[in-house]
Amino acid sequence: MKLYICKDYDAMSAKAADVVASVITLKPDCILGLATGSTPVGMYQKLAEMNKAGKLDFAEVKTYNLDEYYPIKPTNDQSYRYFMDKNLFDNINIDKANTHLLNGEAVDTDAECAAYDKAIEAAGGIDIQVLGIGNNGHIGFNEPDSELVAATHKTGLTESTIQANSRFFASADEVPRHALTMGMAPIMKARKIIILISGKNKHEVLMGLLSGKITTQNPATMLNMHPDVTVVCDEDAYNG
Ligand code: PGA
Repeated sequence: MKLYICKDYDAMSAKAADVVASVITLKPDCILGLATGSTPVGMYQKLAEMNKAGKLDFAEVKTYNLDEYYPIKPTNDQSYRYFMDKNLFDNINIDKANTHLLNGEAVDTDAECAAYDKAIEAAGGIDIQVLGIGNNGHIGFNEPDSELVAATHKTGLTESTIQANSRFFASADEVPRHALTMGMAPIMKARKIIILISGKNKHEVLMGLLSGKITTQNPATMLNMHPDVTVVCDEDAYNG
């Protein structure tokens, strides 16, 4: 596991953007696995700036996002489709047809999730997966539990995640109680993984990740079994 400790959020975002940009430069038709949440917003801004400056081309890039609330309409301003359009896709020269998220309105969620895993495989697999991390160690919506699920699936949100995400909603009552999420397998199959960790409230889960011990109670610790993981954190997260 490579570890970069950056001075602050801005430096973390710049470092992460450089890592992702290098993958796109080497393979212009690469497959990006993308994440939502407040942590990657700065990285997305920097990628959009590189695109605007003519240094980075998304014309052939395909993306698959980690997760989506369920149920939710893509037009809802709390949906992850809306988030991705606003924070990245509308600001770069990507073909929207090449941007994929799980369908928060799917009637048959099992079929939706199975088709998503198949589509990733058929596209050739994820070249780099971008991850954030929950205060509780979740990646995607793979929440701490006595067991984790390999395949992409529908899941319930833990109380701690509902509380953490309520800051984006009018109240905690409005946070959807379910989500569709990539399981641990598609995440671990990505050829390269970059995980962004910012802020003092992530200190404990970061230390868990760096301890080298693996527990389903901190799902991110599974990354210790992956051969190419880059952790990019800020000093607040590292020092606590
Ligand atoms: P955050 O969310 O970036 O908003 O802290 C991270 C996550 O829940 O994965």
